[in-house]
Amino acid sequence: MIAIGCDHGGIHIKNAVIGYLKENHIEYHDFGCYTEESVDYPVYAYQVASAVSKGEAELGIICCGTGIGVSMAANKVKGIRAAVVCDEFCAEMTRRHNNANVLCMGGRVIDEEKAVKLASIFLNTEFEGGRHQKRVDMITAIENGSFEG
Ligand code: RB5
Repeated sequence: MIAIGCDHGGIHIKNAVIGYLKENHIEYHDFGCYTEESVDYPVYAYQVASAVSKGEAELGIICCGTGIGVSMAANKVKGIRAAVVCDEFCAEMTRRHNNANVLCMGGRVIDEEKAVKLASIFLNTEFEGGRHQKRVDMITAIENGSFEG
């Protein structure tokens, strides 16, 4: 299951990604927002990130104007590795190397077609593990206050 959400700045690309999820019969939960009325992006970032953190969703996708605000908010939730992505290379690498579990995109940065492309890459790329596991574990240690680097 994919958790997805947005603010008013990202609703058009979120709706495009939802179209992709529907076409591909990928189960999702849309946490809103549902209109272009101005809203506060941390509310939606928190809901999507919490669903991923609790294991209710495997991965999350959150869209705002830039992708930055939602990534900052999502990364405050335990267990979340949220990445702002605006090109294909980073969409792939943040899964392969960082094991990112939340994709953040900006509706004022990329268009609908690009958002769908990046979401499809993100959802279809696996974490490589190996030497990258140790580094991801270090991120977790920072989060837990046990990092001694
Ligand atoms: C809303 O105007 C805008 O600040 C928000 O969508 C996002 O870009 C924040 O990072």
